[in-house]
Amino acid sequence: MNLGLKDRVAILAGGSRGIGKACAMELLAEGAFVVLVSKNSDINAAAVRELGKLHPDRVLGVPTDLTDDAAIAAMTAQVVERYGRIDILVNSAATVIPQDFFKMGDGQLTGLLEQKFNPAARCIRHAVPNMRKRKWGRIINISGLAGRQPHYTVVPAALNNSAMLNLTKALAAELAKDNILVNAVVPYIIDTERQDETMREWAQMTGQTEAEVRKQRVSKLPVGRMGRPEEVAAVVTFMASERSSYVVGTAWYVDGGGAMTL
Ligand SMILES: NC(=O)c1ccc[n+]([C@@H]2O[C@H](COP(=O)([O-])OP(=O)(O)OC[C@H]3O[C@@H](n4cnc5c(N)ncnc54)[C@H](OP(=O)(O)O)[C@@H]3O)[C@@H](O)[C@H]2O)c1
Repeated sequence: MNLGLKDRVAILAGGSRGIGKACAMELLAEGAFVVLVSKNSDINAAAVRELGKLHPDRVLGVPTDLTDDAAIAAMTAQVVERYGRIDILVNSAATVIPQDFFKMGDGQLTGLLEQKFNPAARCIRHAVPNMRKRKWGRIINISGLAGRQPHYTVVPAALNNSAMLNLTKALAAELAKDNILVNAVVPYIIDTERQDETMREWAQMTGQTEAEVRKQRVSKLPVGRMGRPEEVAAVVTFMASERSSYVVGTAWYVDGGGAMTL
């Protein structure tokens, strides 16, 4: 299948590690230009070096704190100046970790959207005007199972991921007339650094060892193993492509069958 991604310009928010980086690799393999956006400039530079070795002159790194609206405005302006356009935005940045709702104070609760939803919303606001002008765009929001399957231990993730699904649907209906297609994916238990962190948090919260938590979580997955970042990236890359032209406002599970929701 020809995905029609050659020379498309993609911003990967959260592109330095994990799922975002895997998406960058797939998009590069399809001939796109990628812009890796993340906060830590050393990790960002290392990712740019790594991917740039395989795809010279196709990878740009723009270290940006996505909690800072002005910094995002500057980042998108830099991308437009360099490439003349923004075709694809993948929102994969997050710092959400599981926390017990009953141990969360007011301040913590109100600040939670800053961990994932607000950064994604800001990136969308700054990327859409350029896409609108050119009547072509793809926005893919990386949500997560907590957004559809509630549990008191994942309230922070749920708040962000549910809000992201809502925004996906709302903006898809508004932007489709400008040929900007907004979709989401719903991953579950993907083998990234963040997943290791999540396992550690769960172990602390439940008093189990990390190995016990890992075994227990993986045992609930029908496929019997964790997902790989590139398995999420494959779905995202299709959604980013020319060939996804009738896929609008939807959210696809990439969860090894782990979701017990319809
Ligand atoms: N892994 C899973 O099992 C899983 C399951 C469900 C949903 N998800 C979702 O998938 C997405 C990616 O997860 P992942 O596992 O790939 O995470 P990850 O490995 O921790 O990567 C997160 C990325 O977000 C960036 N980031 C975080 N806060 C930022 C900020 N304020 N400004 C700029 N960049 C920021 C990080 O950059 P720095 O290094 O610079 O901080 C990094 O590039 C997340 O939205 C997550 O909620 C993951």
